[in-house]
Amino acid sequence: MRKSRIGILTGGGDCAGLNPAIKWVVKTATDERLTRERGVEYEVVGIRDGWKGLMDVDSSSPYPWQDMPQNYDASRPVLLTQDVVRTWDRYGGTYLGTSRTNPYDPKNNRSQQVVSNIKMLGLDALITIGGEDTLGVAYRLSWEGVNVVGIPKTIDRDLPGTEYTLGFDTAVNVITEEVDRLRTTAGSHKRIFVVETMGRHAGWLALEGGEASGAFIILIPEYNFSLERVYELIRQERDKGARYNIIVVAEGAKPDGGREFVLGETLDSFGHKTLGGVGDFVAKGIAAALKTDTRSMVLSHLQRGGAPSAFDRRMGRYFGIAAVDLIVNGEFTRMVSLRNGKITSVPLEEATGRLNLVNVVTQYDADRYNGRRSILNVSVMV
Ligand code: F6P
Repeated sequence: MRKSRIGILTGGGDCAGLNPAIKWVVKTATDERLTRERGVEYEVVGIRDGWKGLMDVDSSSPYPWQDMPQNYDASRPVLLTQDVVRTWDRYGGTYLGTSRTNPYDPKNNRSQQVVSNIKMLGLDALITIGGEDTLGVAYRLSWEGVNVVGIPKTIDRDLPGTEYTLGFDTAVNVITEEVDRLRTTAGSHKRIFVVETMGRHAGWLALEGGEASGAFIILIPEYNFSLERVYELIRQERDKGARYNIIVVAEGAKPDGGREFVLGETLDSFGHKTLGGVGDFVAKGIAAALKTDTRSMVLSHLQRGGAPSAFDRRMGRYFGIAAVDLIVNGEFTRMVSLRNGKITSVPLEEATGRLNLVNVVTQYDADRYNGRRSILNVSVMV
């Protein structure tokens, strides 16, 4: 029977939903009945730490991959069997590890090394689970003849070409739970809480997390906010008797005429700065202008952690199975996707080069700084 080897890696920020996707790639690729029907025997090899694991591969051993679990060695891929991945779908993060390594880093381009390591490892196809950066690298590698298939993941849900990216639903659940917790203490102390979520360019997390948790004000990167308007909205609400308020702000949100808030000027190898600080800025502004006890908190990586929600487990499963379907059909340079409620695929190129942002006309109420109050025929999966 013909044998074929699939490599799989997770790149960029981790999130819930990666391990379920890996599990279902392995289970589908190595399923005994499907193997007989296809007449092809697949083997799945896990690459450690995203693209980093394809840069420095240990070629000294005749079998360059090791069994899981063993001593962690990022330079040695691991053999993924059904036994190994059996329980993975219950857990967050990625057991393969991840990194923000860019083989096409202009300061140190190592893409040729990656191409030759893929050949050396005998990978007939490579499944890359990632966001715009990881999938952008996969797309460029396809120009060098690498057979790539993408699975979309990012808690920001800002990839075009798909209505869902793994990790988003779990992160929205975290925001909702944490805001629920804040409400009791906020009410007891009559405080305003400003909750900063992730969301570098896109406001989906803040918007849908804010909607789900009933936040009073939601600030998103797609619409620059006026602090004066924030004060005015709070005053109006307080006049109506509100004892406390919850404000949800995306890390990438900007005040009118201002820039995004960064924690430092250092760039990662894809050219991104680490964002943070807008929540504190808003809280300090409110405290000073309204003389009200106001605190801020940053949810940060809590949104990426923990067990995957039921939806992320299901979507990880469906995307994993679909990625293998594409390989079986020989349909490469494509990303699996959810569109109009259907699991399908799009050219990988569609997932790169632009972002899926909140439409502030149809999906945001720019007067109330909140979700829409008129919603018939508005798309809520984008
Ligand atoms: O890209 C997803 C994301 O979670 C962004 O929302 C956030 O800005 C970034 O990753 C944080 O990345 P890191 O964990 O590398 O600081």
